[in-house]
Amino acid sequence: MEDDKIQFMWTLLVLVMISSDVNGAICPNACRCENDVLKTTCSSASLEFVPIQLNPELHVLDISNNKILQIHFSFPFYENLLTLNLSNNRIKTLGNSNFNSQKNLTLLDISSNRIENLTKDSLKGLKALTHLDLSNNSLEEISSESFRELHSLKILRLCRNKLVHLEEGVFRSCRKLKELYLNDNQFLELPTTALTGTPHLKCLSLSRNLIQSVPDGEMPNLSELEMLLLDSNVISDIRHDGLSGLVALTHLDLSDNNITVMPTGPLAKLSKLTILKLSGNFIGHILPVAFRGLFHLKVLKIDRMEVLTQIDARAFVDNIYLEKIDMDYNVGIKDLPTRLFHGNPKVRYISVKYNNLETLEAIHFPLDQLHDLRVGGNPLNCNCSLGWLWQLIQEYKVKSLKLNKTSSIDIKKSKPGPSDLILDVDDITCVGPEDLDGFLLAEATKSQMDCSVSWMAAVSVTVTVMFILLVIGGVVYWAPRRRSKSNKKEISEIEDTIRRGMPPPPPPRKNEVYSGMPLDKYIMPPPVMIQNDYRSLPNWDPYGAGTVNIYEQLNESRERPHIVYV
Ligand SMILES: *[C@@H]1O[C@H](CO)[C@@H](O)[C@H](O)[C@H]1NC(C)=O
Ligand SMILES: *[C@@H]1O[C@H](CO)[C@@H](O)[C@H](O)[C@H]1NC(C)=O
Ligand SMILES: *[C@@H]1O[C@H](CO)[C@@H](O)[C@H](O)[C@H]1NC(C)=O
Ligand SMILES: *[C@@H]1O[C@H](CO)[C@@H](O)[C@H](O)[C@H]1NC(C)=O
Ligand SMILES: *[C@@H]1O[C@H](CO)[C@@H](O)[C@H](O)[C@H]1NC(C)=O
Ligand SMILES: *[C@@H]1O[C@H](CO)[C@@H](O)[C@H](O)[C@H]1NC(C)=O
Ligand SMILES: *[C@@H]1O[C@H](CO)[C@@H](O)[C@H](O)[C@H]1NC(C)=O
Ligand SMILES: *[C@@H]1O[C@H](CO)[C@@H](O)[C@H](O)[C@H]1NC(C)=O
Repeated sequence: MEDDKIQFMWTLLVLVMISSDVNGAICPNACRCENDVLKTTCSSASLEFVPIQLNPELHVLDISNNKILQIHFSFPFYENLLTLNLSNNRIKTLGNSNFNSQKNLTLLDISSNRIENLTKDSLKGLKALTHLDLSNNSLEEISSESFRELHSLKILRLCRNKLVHLEEGVFRSCRKLKELYLNDNQFLELPTTALTGTPHLKCLSLSRNLIQSVPDGEMPNLSELEMLLLDSNVISDIRHDGLSGLVALTHLDLSDNNITVMPTGPLAKLSKLTILKLSGNFIGHILPVAFRGLFHLKVLKIDRMEVLTQIDARAFVDNIYLEKIDMDYNVGIKDLPTRLFHGNPKVRYISVKYNNLETLEAIHFPLDQLHDLRVGGNPLNCNCSLGWLWQLIQEYKVKSLKLNKTSSIDIKKSKPGPSDLILDVDDITCVGPEDLDGFLLAEATKSQMDCSVSWMAAVSVTVTVMFILLVIGGVVYWAPRRRSKSNKKEISEIEDTIRRGMPPPPPPRKNEVYSGMPLDKYIMPPPVMIQNDYRSLPNWDPYGAGTVNIYEQLNESRERPHIVYV
């Protein structure tokens, strides 16, 4: 009250001064007055009181960043105010009816003060107010009548306070409310009863509270709600009908909660959802069709899932419009199912950075349609199986060199294609094999990425093994059986001819009997000959083509033929 008295006396003094001034307005040194636009800025002027000797016609008054303690009797002088900024002062209470004259005020910023409560008359008279910022105060209590005259309110910021709950129907007069920010408070549950009577709410933030669950059927009919932010709470339970009624929801953030089971059922009701964030939860498995019914989903964030170990190959099959997926820092993911994204024809951006992937296969990703692929930070074993990625990196480097030289018009002209793929080349490092440990995959040489050597080894081993098996098989089964068969046949033929009284036919020549069978020469000779057969191995041709051709075919199936430049 001492302050009030002092200010009142000061006010009188100033009024006396003003009456001697014909224009009726003084601009204090600390302020900047733009009388043509009726704006005065006294920001960061160490003011302890609201200056009351300014132009009474003022539309815009900024007295932010001062040391103002209270606002009693301060604003009756400025009835025409449209915008008032009181941010970052030391105001403890708004008192009663201090804004009663501000019938035209549309924007009021009282953020970063020390306000503890709102009484039923604290905001009385602010009938034109559309934006109210009360964030970063110490609000614990808000009367259920506080907002009763704020019929025009569209955006209300109550974030960074100490709110634990809100009275039932506290916003019922604010029928036009579109955005409500309640983040960074201490709500233990969804303030559902407070949200009745706000049918046009489009954005609701409850991030960083202490909400534990989304219960069944309590969410009011927010049929226009488009964005719901529930990240950084401790939600472990989303009931089956917890989100039904939010028929217009397009953006849902459930990141950094305590969710252990994918809320497939509750999410399936959100048929318009386009952005879904589930990062930082404790989901272990992503089951088939985990995002059932979310046909319009475009952006999916499932990164930082510490305990995630398994993603089903059909996890995203319903999400035919999926464009962007972020799966970074899923440290339990050791491999990706092949064709994980092959049901998502629109996918353009895939990020699997800092997973635990040792290898990547080209078939994991729809490379022909991707614009952006991020795979850095995985413990990659950079053997020749990553040749495809190495090849893409080389193409990317060539491309970006060219882009640096050409104008942006040329960039637009060039046709988009797989070579336009953006890669995080500087993050793709190797932990193996030994000679590449700690290097970038981009630094590997062509020969290190060349599988032909190992292919050759693999093929010759296979050929040898098959050959030995065939030889053994032939020796064990073919030779004795054939002999007994032909013996039998010969005997029966001889018997026949003897019966018919005709001379026996000449025994069939070996070549005719086994014509067209390339194994012939390896099987026919007696077992003693095996040593010679080993030597003739390179001529043997199991695929009907020379062994050299096999390697050529293998090379063709990869991105580029193997050319050695000299
Ligand atoms: C509010 O604005 C209207 C015009 O938009 C004007 O006629 C009226 O006088 C203003 N009211 C006050 C109290 O300044
Ligand atoms: C009010 O002033 C603060 C500090 O100068 C500024 O950050 C804030 O944007 C202003 N508020 C509005 C609504 O302009
Ligand atoms: C919140 O208000 C305090 C002063 O009350 C200020 O120091 C701090 O910077 C403000 N924080 C934000 C995020 O505005
Ligand atoms: C509101 O806060 C002011 C200042 O801290 C205090 O004097 C007053 O008693 C409080 N009113 C209610 C209803 O809590
Ligand atoms: C929600 O609104 C729809 C129509 O908009 C109505 O049919 C339904 O009964 C309402 N539900 C609740 C719980 O009010
Ligand atoms: C998260 O849930 C687990 C059980 O599922 C519980 O032990 C833990 O305390 C919860 N964490 C928080 C912050 O509530
Ligand atoms: C390359 O390394 C991966 C992972 O260690 C392994 O699965 C793959 O078989 C290796 N490829 C070759 C050709 O050795
Ligand atoms: C292209 O230019 C940018 C800066 O304009 C540079 O950071 C980048 O390294 C350049 N790329 C290449 C491949 O030289």
